[in-house]
Amino acid sequence: MAYFLGIDVSTTSSKALIIDDSGGVIAVASSPHSLQTPKPLWSEQDPQEWWTAVCACIRSALDQAHILRDSIEAIGLTGQMHGLVLLDDAGNVLRPAILWNDQRTQDQCEEIHQKIGREKFIQITGNVALTGFTAPKILWVKENEPEVFERARHVLLPKDYIRFKLTGEYAMDKADGAGTVLFDLRKRDWSDEVLNILGIPRSWMPRTFEGTEFTGSITEQAAALTGLSVGTMVAAGGGDQAAGAVGMGAVETGVVSLTVGTSGVVFATTPSALIEPQGRLHAFCHAVPGMWHFMGVMLSAAGSLQWFHDTLASKTSFDDLVKEAEDIPAGSEGLQFLPYLSGERTPYPDPLARGAFIGLTLRHSRAHMTRAVLEGVSFGLKDSFTLIQNAGLGTITQVRASGGGTKSQLWRQILASVLNTELVTVNTSEGGAYGAALLAGVGAGAWSDISTACRDCIKISGNTNPDPGQVETYQKAYSIYQSLYPSLQKQFINLNTLT
Ligand code: XUL
Repeated sequence: MAYFLGIDVSTTSSKALIIDDSGGVIAVASSPHSLQTPKPLWSEQDPQEWWTAVCACIRSALDQAHILRDSIEAIGLTGQMHGLVLLDDAGNVLRPAILWNDQRTQDQCEEIHQKIGREKFIQITGNVALTGFTAPKILWVKENEPEVFERARHVLLPKDYIRFKLTGEYAMDKADGAGTVLFDLRKRDWSDEVLNILGIPRSWMPRTFEGTEFTGSITEQAAALTGLSVGTMVAAGGGDQAAGAVGMGAVETGVVSLTVGTSGVVFATTPSALIEPQGRLHAFCHAVPGMWHFMGVMLSAAGSLQWFHDTLASKTSFDDLVKEAEDIPAGSEGLQFLPYLSGERTPYPDPLARGAFIGLTLRHSRAHMTRAVLEGVSFGLKDSFTLIQNAGLGTITQVRASGGGTKSQLWRQILASVLNTELVTVNTSEGGAYGAALLAGVGAGAWSDISTACRDCIKISGNTNPDPGQVETYQKAYSIYQSLYPSLQKQFINLNTLT
């Protein structure tokens, strides 16, 4: 039997997952990462820590699996997107990685729009420049750490640094390439024009590959550290959202995936390089060869509930906290929550946006506040869902829900009623790592293509329908929610002058 290994270098941990050639998961291991926030708005990690964690979890997954090392036919990589890893000409890391949730680059985003022209930038890359993306991070280093920029010779993303450690190759997949916003979205490769205007040498950018293509193989040194066999092939894989969509079977137009993790993501496959004209949706290459996708990202989804729990209810379990909210009527009796705890991306690309409870009265209890958090996050996801519904993709035939937040029956019910659509769940819950393993499997020929792999391995396991009694209340509450950010935006800017 053949086996495939998926490796996910996420923000919180590295994960290694082994599947067999019928898609069954036979081993999963993970190892945590620490996160550094040395200044307000900064978010960094040490790439060496990822490598130590990846080696540990590969060894642990191999031990659990009880299989011959040689029977791992191929490896697929995924991980947190957009993070900047800068290397010198000998492959040494030059500074801590600047992550996807780092917000320091507002000035550089404006500079990019000014230098290239916002419209033109959207036309080439499919996106506006946002603080989370990679391009403004490179400019930030150029302007603030010229001695680092001077020595830089290679730009990689987190999982591609791991690829470099595993194979010795500088390479990247096209989904993550597009997420740097230095890509020509239609060409599925680096934009010489954008690189030239921004003064980023083309030679720093690695070769890019489709998700199922092989980018190199395990070196002797990596084999000694991980327990893998020398020569095992490593497929390109994809950024966590694109690989996660593969792991959910969201690989065809019409099937939308909705992920309620720390961040919240609404993801839709597109058959060509479609662009949302104002750049309100991200438009990137898919990990599925020759396909693209739209994506709306909210920065604090289940992260909002986590904050609420840790700050105001840490002695209560998550399950009990959410259970209290079951008895509160839809609409939380006029209480609303804005989930912009770490700023926002979709539909308001605003690092200064803030969270808020609005409409508190003496009647409101902790249970009302919990329900308002679940509802506010659902309204935020509806913003992205509506943009995708209106993006000219045709009918949405199915919405597949995943992520920690959707384990709650109450939250699934609220989401189905707020979106006014049926949600289905699937039998796989390992997200990006599972998708990366499938991409490697297709690369190795275990399945003829991604759609076949997904059809063979991923099955519908449940569904949640909108509650007709809640739909109308949520329509009214959503229209109030939509008016809140525009009314408060200026005050968010003012509030930030106090910190
Ligand atoms: C996607 C994004 C996040 C990170 C973190 O655009 O920024 O999903 O990849 O996982």
